[in-house]
Amino acid sequence: MSDQDPAFVRSAFSAIAPRYVVANHVLSLGIDVLWRRHTARVASEINPRRILDLATGSGDLAATLRSRCPEAEIVGADFCAPMLKEARKRNLPALLVADGLALPFADGVFDVVTVAWGLRNMASWSVALSEMRRVLRPGGRLAVLDFSLPTRPLLRSAYRWYLHRLLPTLGGWIAGDREAYRYLGESIERFPAGQAMCDLIQEAGFDTVRAEPLMAGISSLYVADVAP
Ligand SMILES: C[S@@+](CC[C@H](N)C(=O)[O-])C[C@H]1O[C@@H](n2cnc3c(N)ncnc32)[C@H](O)[C@@H]1O
Repeated sequence: MSDQDPAFVRSAFSAIAPRYVVANHVLSLGIDVLWRRHTARVASEINPRRILDLATGSGDLAATLRSRCPEAEIVGADFCAPMLKEARKRNLPALLVADGLALPFADGVFDVVTVAWGLRNMASWSVALSEMRRVLRPGGRLAVLDFSLPTRPLLRSAYRWYLHRLLPTLGGWIAGDREAYRYLGESIERFPAGQAMCDLIQEAGFDTVRAEPLMAGISSLYVADVAP
């Protein structure tokens, strides 16, 4: 499921790559940093030795993971080379161009896979989740951080107004690409959240999964484990 066009997604991220980090921090009022820290904390709970940060983009989460798990080997993968160029500025040692739908890794080689605001953009959520499952070892953990819609009706309406009216304009000013931010709102509307996302993750072969709404549900963290 998902009808994201990979060519559009790649070109949208290529266009905003140089301003992605600043735009992120401004548009989220810096909260994205806290959400990444929380994701890294959850990833660290199983003392991972090898972590894959998929859709690593500018490498923000990979860098946060490096601070949280200094002993772990962290691999960052993304299918958009201009985004990885930004990640290289963070001196991350293992970065590669790779598509989440066909990961170039053997089965069971990672303890943790993280993906922040990346799964939503992939052409098939179920194929991507199956790939993440495939590269995890028994006892491994997946952490998916992504946008969702608040469940409270009033907040949901206000957030939708921000997403569809204000965000494309602000994103156009800050990142120079209004279309990429119009797409962001549309993709959030289409992306499953809560129980629907837990079901999708479980169908990909995970044994347990829980959803954690963040900031009244503006983002959600899904934590899925593979049985030992
Ligand atoms: C919103 S950025 C997230 C970047 C980063 N994870 C963060 O925390 O800011 C989404 C990233 O997903 C990447 N992406 C989208 N589809 C992908 C795919 N099929 N395979 C690998 N990366 C993909 C994009 O190139 C982009 O860099």
